Formats: sequence, C-alpha cells, structure tokens
Amino acid sequence: MNTTVSAGFLDLPPLVRAAGRVTLPGSKSISNRVLLLAALAAGTTRVRGLLDADDTRVMRDALRALGCTLRDEGEVLHVQGLGGRLAVHEASLFLGNAGTAMRPLTAALAVLAATQGGRFELAGVARMHERPIGDLVGALRQLGCTVDELGSPGYPPLRVGGRAGGRLATAQPIRVRGDVSSQFLTALLLALPLAAQGGDAVTIEVAGELISRPYVEITLKLLARFGVEVAHEGWRRFTIAAGSAYRSPDAIDVEGDASSASYFVAAGAIAATADAPVVVEGVGSDSIQGDIRFVDAARAMGAAVHAEPGRLVVHRGAWPLVPIELDCTEIPDAAMTLAAMALFAHGTTRLGGIASWRVKETDRIAAMAAELRRVGAQVVAGDDFIAITPPASGGWRAAAVRTYDDHRMAMAMSLAAFNPRAGAAPRVPLRILDPRCVAKTFPGYFDALFGLVEADPADVPVLTVDGPTASGKGTLAAALAARLGYHLLDSGALYRATALAVDADGIAPGDEAAVAAAAAALDLRFDGGRCVLRGRDVSEALRLERTGALASRVSALPAVRKALHARQLAFRRAPGLVADGRDMGTVVFPDAALKVFLTASPAERAERRHKQLISKGISASIADLRADLEARDARDRSRPVAPLVPARDALSLDNSALDVDASVDLVLDWWAERRPFDR
Ligand code: DC
Repeated sequence: MNTTVSAGFLDLPPLVRAAGRVTLPGSKSISNRVLLLAALAAGTTRVRGLLDADDTRVMRDALRALGCTLRDEGEVLHVQGLGGRLAVHEASLFLGNAGTAMRPLTAALAVLAATQGGRFELAGVARMHERPIGDLVGALRQLGCTVDELGSPGYPPLRVGGRAGGRLATAQPIRVRGDVSSQFLTALLLALPLAAQGGDAVTIEVAGELISRPYVEITLKLLARFGVEVAHEGWRRFTIAAGSAYRSPDAIDVEGDASSASYFVAAGAIAATADAPVVVEGVGSDSIQGDIRFVDAARAMGAAVHAEPGRLVVHRGAWPLVPIELDCTEIPDAAMTLAAMALFAHGTTRLGGIASWRVKETDRIAAMAAELRRVGAQVVAGDDFIAITPPASGGWRAAAVRTYDDHRMAMAMSLAAFNPRAGAAPRVPLRILDPRCVAKTFPGYFDALFGLVEADPADVPVLTVDGPTASGKGTLAAALAARLGYHLLDSGALYRATALAVDADGIAPGDEAAVAAAAAALDLRFDGGRCVLRGRDVSEALRLERTGALASRVSALPAVRKALHARQLAFRRAPGLVADGRDMGTVVFPDAALKVFLTASPAERAERRHKQLISKGISASIADLRADLEARDARDRSRPVAPLVPARDALSLDNSALDVDASVDLVLDWWAERRPFDR
C-alpha cells in the first residue's frame, strides 16, 4: 500500500483502535525559515531533519533559482549562503500555495533589490493569488521598496525591483498590521536584518492585535540562531540592532512538525488502548513551535498526554471527550484538529479566535463547517468562531469529504473515521477526496496513519481478482491497489515461495505434510515490491516458469492451502485490500465487496507470457507456452480443493481486447457502484 493514490479519493474504513509509534516529518514553519536564513547568511549551513514536502520544495527551487547552492547528503542538506549579496538579479519564482515562502521571499527580495538592483517576480497557484499580502506590500513601500502588484491590488503575483545603490528609509519605524497574518511581521523580521547590515537600526511597529504570536516567537528564536538579536517591547515594537548580519550556525536541526503531531495526539485521545499508547516522535516538551500548545487543548478535551523532550506519549483519558470553549488565536492550525476531535465530545465545542482561517489554504471556517456537517455534525459558524455538536449515534453518514486543496482539511477530517469509538450505528467508512493535498506538508500522512490504526477485518473492504495464469491479474490487481491506495495480496507469490522453499529443502512436492509444514513456517516478507524469502531477495526466482509449475503442484494440496490461509487473511488491514489469485473470491475472502474473474483467450495469454519472457531475454515457443498454460489451467480447475472457478457473485472480465488502463477504469467503475458514498 502506498498513498500515492491516483484515483482522486482514499476510502478509510471505520477505525476502532490506534496504537504504536509515528515519526513526524520536519516542521514546515521552521524548515522554510531555516532555508531562507541559511540562504541569506554567510557560510554553509548543514540542516538536518528538514521537511520534504510541497511547501519546502517550492522554497528550495526558489533559492536555487536565486543562485544558492543546495546539496543533499543523506539526511542533511548543505546550504551555501549568499552572505546577503544577490547572486542573480532577475528571476521568476513559482511558490505554489506556500505562504511561508511567498511572504518572506517577497520581503527579502524587495529589500535586496532596493539596494543591490534586481527584478523578481513571485507567483503561485490560483489560491495563493487570493491570499492577502497588501499589508506587507504597504510596509515594504514605507521602506522605499518598489513592489508592483501584477494581478489584483493587495494580492500576488508581485514584482519587486530596484537599482543598485538605492537606499532604504529606515529612520522611521516600519508599521505593519498584525491581525491578518503574522507572516507579514515574520517576513519583515527575516528581511530587515539585510537592511540593518549597512549601519542603521531598524524598528517595526505592529498595528492592531498580533495574532499567531507563537509563529513570531519561532522567527525570533531562529534569527538568534543565525546571529541576529531582535529586541521587542510587549510584542508591539521590534528593533533590529544596527550592524546586524546573518551568520550561519554551521549546523541546525529541524524539529518535527507540531501541527502534524496534532492528528496523532487526537488519534491517541480517541482510540488508543489502555495498554498501548500512541507515541509521537519528533516534538515534545522542548519544542519551540506554538502548536505544541495544542497538547494543552487536547488535555482539556480529555487526552492523557505525557510530554518529554522530543516525544509525546498519548493515552485515552476522559471518554467521551470533553467539549471545550477555547480562544484559538495562538494555535490556528492545530485548532482544526480540535474541530475534528469535537466529533467525539459529549456536547458542543466552541472554538473562537479563528478569523485567520478565512485567508489560509482555503476559507477554513466555511470548509470545516461544510465537511463536519457532511459527516453528520451540527455546526454553527461565524466570522471568527465555529461551534460543533457531534452526530447522534445514528446520525453518522458515509461522507465523501471535500478537501479544498487544503492538507489540514484532509488530515483533520480523517479522524472522523474513528466513528465506531463514538458509538456510530451503523459505523461508517469515510472517503477523502483528493487526498494527495497532504503533500503540502506531510506526504506520508496516510501511510503514517495506517501504520497506527486498526479496523475490524469485516469492515475492511476487499476487491478480489481471480483468474487463470497469464490473464493479467497481477498487473490489474497492482494497478487497482495503487489507484485505491490499498494493500495488495499476490497470493500466487505465497504458493510460489512455498515451491522455492520446498525445492531448497529437498522436500518431495507430493509429501503433503512436509510441504504444508514448509508453507506454515515460510519466512517471507514483501518489501516495497520485492519479495524476501529467508532473508534473500527471491523476486526474480519467484517469477520463473519452473517455480510456477511447482507452485501449481503444491497448491493442489489441501494442507498447504490451509497452512497459508491465515497468512492471507492477515493482509486485510486498513484502508483496504486488493487480492489476486485463484480462490480469493471463493474461499479466502467470500465476503469481498467486489469479485472480478479475469479471463483472456489462451492464444492471447500465451502471447503475453511470450512477450514477458522475451523482454527478460528468455526465448520460448508460443505453442509450448500455450500448451503449458492450458495444462496448468486444467490442473487448477480440476483440483478438488479451491479449484479455479468464478465465485457465484463474481463479475467476469475478458480483457483479451482491453489494455490495462481500460480494464482498471472498468473495474474502478464497478467498485464505485458498490461503495456507499455519493458519486
Ligand atoms: O498466480 P500465479 O501464477 O503466481 O500462481 C502460481 C500458482 O499458485 C498457480 O499455478 C496456482 C496457485 N495459486 C493458487 O492455487 N491459489 C491462489 N490463490 C494463487 C495461486
């Protein structure tokens, strides 16, 4: 299974438990600040633990376009700083939907271009062009920077420029609003040490309330690591000392992302078991991120969280969760996780101070309200608050949740899959539309989630593909699993591996008890598409004709089939399974939601096998291949146990004249018809 799902949706079965260990990706906020600071500083900085996701990728690409050298060495990124000097004076930068790239780069390039000369364009995706930046532009103009709005006034795309030798107006304090996005202040704080380099101190004054203050604290802490101290008076007036200059700290570690931690803290609070907690590695009591304060809010809702340096250990505490009223000004991102946790509380949760949600990746107040309602909650939403009353046990709906190209919508709403814990009757699966939006900050989110959670096997959907040899089941099943983000069981590989083991141990293929014992003891792992038997990669040996023929013999032995039965059932794990073989629909998964019986004419199958062999440099005669596969079909069909026959409720698919994509699309249509979600 991997979550490079390409079907445009990911279905989660109802989940009943969460336990185990998850290692967080690096903090987005720290990663993008560190990247920019390292690029502006003198000297090389070795950065460990950097987030590898869409938002940091656009920052890295932008820095490269600006002439900065970035070199990956294993886990460590080496950034060779520009020392405050522009290496490139003209560039067009695409910054996706990364506010943490757009705002600080705009400020830094405006300041550098105003004194060293240059012309830079900064653009992003359509939503980025709807996210305000006018207050930052206004502040930069007070400094004397030239900033042109290329689209709507107050929004990206922007062009910043200037002539070499220009001077900045730093004598007066620069005023910036603090109540729309704290990123405006952060951007100025990151850029203005470049202006103080020449000699003058620079002062910034915040107008209005400063929201998301913890993010400004991160900025100040990281500035200090890069040699720039900023004094502030009551978070309203910030002074960067004259002569400030960035110096590389040589090496810096990026801690795990505290906002990303919130989903797993929530999972633990909702579904950890008494004996097995959810352990979140990468952030803890020593975190510099504001969203670590989410832990206190989760505790207020009942989570039992033990925080230590670099780690959070989460047990279930109060149950059901306790509804809260909370001002979330300081934890706007993690507050979305609280909104999802509210589905498991015994009353109405009211989250205030979230006006900034309106200008994030999407209008998060509207989006959250709509999607929480879609799963059955009652929601009241206002300009700066949201109030959530969970569904009654019979009110949960199998929802196809929209994600609005917003990673946090996908991650927060995924928690609704724990509805059995809330007593949902019936318990419902959940569909996440466009799940790949998590790549903005956490590409491996769903893999991490599925690594922790458990569903009752009966709730885990199974799609079976049975059929004769060389019918293309393996290819079809693998493509379906990839499209659905499901696990894959290639049951033939189990029989083939048994054949290899039997062969290696000199067991007679007819010695049923001995072959079954070998099957039961099979030391076999599937590892990223490779098959490892007794510690050896046998992926190639497994596919040999000889192995297939021996597998066909041993698979006819009832004791062997019995020995492999439990191992096959164990593949049925969240989020779902595509299983291919001969008896997947008839014997192993008789309750599968969709059973496909795949066939192709013997001539076509012999041709395909021939092509396969030729591509591996093995010569063979088509006539021999056809005779061989017909013999194998006959044996598989006529054996007394689990013969190759279509299940009564199987849908037949003759793919003689279909290419793989067409077969996949057809089966996905059948699948869609059987899922409970609106289409
Ligand atoms: O699908 P395959 O060619 O890898 O299967 C190898 C042999 O294993 C095949 O001849 C029949 C047997 N088999 C089986 O009996 N039941 C299964 N579910 C899968 C394979």
